[in-house]
Amino acid sequence: MSQPEVVVRPARVADTKPILTLVNELALRQIMLPRSPASVIENIRDFLVAEVDGQLAGCGALAITWTDLGEVRSLAVHPDHQKLGLGRALVDALVADAERLGLPQLFAFTYVPDFFQKMGFAICQHEDLPHKVFNDCMHCPKFLACDEIAMSRVLDASAGPEQTFGKPQRAIPLPQRTAAFVPSQESAVSARPVQATGDSGPSRPNPPAS
Ligand SMILES: CC(C)(COP(=O)(O)OP(=O)(O)OC[C@H]1O[C@@H](n2cnc3c(N)ncnc32)[C@H](O)[C@@H]1OP(=O)(O)O)[C@@H](O)C(=O)NCCC(=O)NCCS
Repeated sequence: MSQPEVVVRPARVADTKPILTLVNELALRQIMLPRSPASVIENIRDFLVAEVDGQLAGCGALAITWTDLGEVRSLAVHPDHQKLGLGRALVDALVADAERLGLPQLFAFTYVPDFFQKMGFAICQHEDLPHKVFNDCMHCPKFLACDEIAMSRVLDASAGPEQTFGKPQRAIPLPQRTAAFVPSQESAVSARPVQATGDSGPSRPNPPAS
């Protein structure tokens, strides 16, 4: 009997339906989180798929969390094809993609820590991943009772702090108002909106721009 042909390739929009079927059937068994159609379609460029003889048998996504961090998401292999190396092939390809992008660290939230350990990940604390906690976890129904295990893998131990692009709350420099855009006191007074109460008292200038 000939060996099945296994191909790992970037997902296409036509893969949306089989990805959703695979992920959400496994999610029904409470072993991974479900995905909505929109979240797969909008993020289809994050996904890789594994095909066995032309049929989609596995998928996984690399979501960029920050300049120094990426997440392995929605990793799933159809039960008929598990333990045949597809999961490893998908993780290897996602890692290669992360390295191409220059991401020095990956993480995953998972119920299968032993598998991820074999993929070079080690258990970490949710608190070690503040971007994830602030972006996604806060909106998750399981936020106060999360039973997923956080795991991370360093891809480039030499990456320095310059790669982190600031801490989350200081990520984007706030625009500084230049003199040309700071309204003069006169125009600030004339621009003061009319108060709906009908108060016709003396106008006060707007507070100075900080
Ligand atoms: C976890 C999953 C992706 C693994 O895929 P897979 O194709 O079966 O994995 P592979 O065959 O590539 O296995 C690679 C190695 O991990 C081991 N492994 C696979 N599944 C494992 C598990 N559940 N627990 C412990 N080890 C596991 C394999 O034995 C193999 O070890 P080896 O290299 O020493 O021989 C797959 O079982 C799956 O889709 N599970 C349901 C969904 C899920 O839990 N996804 C993870 C969401 S974060």
